[in-house]
Amino acid sequence: MASHTIDRPRPTAADLSERAKRHLWMHFTRLGSFAERPIPVIVRGEGCYVFDASGQRYLDGLSALFCVNSGHGRREIGEAAAAQVAELEFFQAWGFAHPRAVELAERVAGLAPGDLNRVFFTSGGSEAVESALKLTRAYHRLRGDLRRTKVIAREVAYHGTSLGALSATGIPAMRHDFEPLTPGGCHVPNTNAYRQPADRDPLWAADAIEHRILFEGPDTVAAVILEPMQNGGGCLAPPDGYFQRVREICDRHGVLLISDEVICAWGRLGEYFGADHYGYQPDLITTAKGLTSAYAPLGALIASDRVAEPFQEGDAMFAHGFTFAAHPVCAAVALANLDVFEREDLCGHVRAKAGEFRKMLESLRDIPIVGDVRGDGFFYAIELVADQATAARFSAEQVRTLVREILPGELAARGLITRVDDRGGDPLILLCPPLIADTPQFEEIESALRPALAAASDRMLAGTGVAS
Ligand SMILES: Cc1ncc(COP(=O)(O)O)c(C=O)c1O
Repeated sequence: MASHTIDRPRPTAADLSERAKRHLWMHFTRLGSFAERPIPVIVRGEGCYVFDASGQRYLDGLSALFCVNSGHGRREIGEAAAAQVAELEFFQAWGFAHPRAVELAERVAGLAPGDLNRVFFTSGGSEAVESALKLTRAYHRLRGDLRRTKVIAREVAYHGTSLGALSATGIPAMRHDFEPLTPGGCHVPNTNAYRQPADRDPLWAADAIEHRILFEGPDTVAAVILEPMQNGGGCLAPPDGYFQRVREICDRHGVLLISDEVICAWGRLGEYFGADHYGYQPDLITTAKGLTSAYAPLGALIASDRVAEPFQEGDAMFAHGFTFAAHPVCAAVALANLDVFEREDLCGHVRAKAGEFRKMLESLRDIPIVGDVRGDGFFYAIELVADQATAARFSAEQVRTLVREILPGELAARGLITRVDDRGGDPLILLCPPLIADTPQFEEIESALRPALAAASDRMLAGTGVAS
C-alpha cells in the first residue's frame, strides 16, 4: 500500500505552531499565553533528550511529565507494539483475556509488594485512582459496611482530574471550577518538613490522619490515599516511621490504605514500587506513567488478595470498567518496557546514582533564592524563597513573576525541560530525569540550572539588598 506521508513536505516549526494555536487544546495550559509567542513543538526523542521542530535539543529533566522512565526512542518497544498489532490489535477485557494482559498482570503481581496479586488495568492514572476509590466503596459495601464512603488524602496532593479522583486531589485551584465534586473527600496536612517547626513530633502528620478518621467517624471512612513521596508541594518525603504509623492507624479503624504510585513506581525511587522503598504494605496500589514509560497509555490498580477476595464469590462483581482496559498493544509495550528495566537494571542504576544526583542539586544552595533541596531517587524539588536564612516566602505577585516570566525563559534558553510549579503556593523547580541519566546529564542539568537560578535570583532580589 502506498504511503500517504513519505512525499509530504515537512511542516516548519512556525507552521505547526500556528496550526496548534488554531486547533490543539493543550491540557492545563493558559492558551492565551501563546498569543505573542510560538508553541514549542517536540518532534523527536532519544535517550534523555528531545528535539523541537526547529532542531533545538533539550535535556528532558522531567521524563515527559514523570513518564518516560526508560528513556526516549527505544525502537524495541515500538517493535513490540507493531508485533502485537499484527497478532491481535485489540480485544476487550470484559469477560475475555488475551495473552499479553495475562502475562503483564502476572508480572506486575510478581513485582508488587506482598499479596498485591490482582491487577485491574486502566488507561492512565486518574482512571486508576477513580477505580481504587470505587473499589474501596464496593469492597466495604459487599462486606456489609454500608456507610464507608469517605477518602482521606493530603493537602496539595495531586491524585488526578476525574471528579472522584479530584475529590482526593488537595489543590484548591484545581477543584474550584468543578465543584460540587464527588462527596467524601477529606484532607489532612502533608509532610512538608521545610515548613514545619523543628521541634514538632515528626509523626504528627500521621497522627493527623487518625484524628480525621475519628472526627469523621471511623465507620464512614473507606480509604486513605497517599503517594509514597508527594509530588504536589515538591517532593514531600515521609519522615521515618510515617507509613508504618499510618498502616497501624488504618488497621485499627478498618480503613484501606491506597498507595498512589502513578509517579513513584517503576524505578523512580530506586525500587519497582515506592511502598517497597519506604517499607510499607498498602492494600491497593494505583499506577500508570512509567509502567509503559508512556510508549503507550496504560495504568493499573493492583489489589491485595484480601481486597479482591469478596469479588471472587457467588454473583459478586466490581461493576466498573473501561473499553480500553488491558489493551493488548499497551500490555505488549509494558512487557517490552519491563524487559528493558530488567536487562539494564534501571532500579539498581537509580540506587547507585541517586546520591550523586542529590549532591549536584545540593551544590546549588549557595544561590540566594534556593531555600530547600529535597527528594529521593531520581526525583527532586528545589523550593525558591525570598530569604534563605528565614525561609521567608515571595509575595504572590513575585511568585507569578518568577514562575511564569523569569524561570521558564531562563531554563528553555539553556535547553533544560523541568517543571516550574506554584500549585501549592510555593515556587518550585521539579527534576525527574529518565532513569538512564548519568554523570554527564547531571552535569548538564547543573550547568543549565546554576546560571538560570543565578539570573532569577539577581532579578528577584534586585533592590532588596541581598547579593548573589
Ligand atoms: C500521584 C498521581 N496520581 C494520579 C495522577 C493522574 O494521572 P493521569 O494524568 O495519568 O490521569 C497523577 C498524574 O500526574 C499523579 O501524579
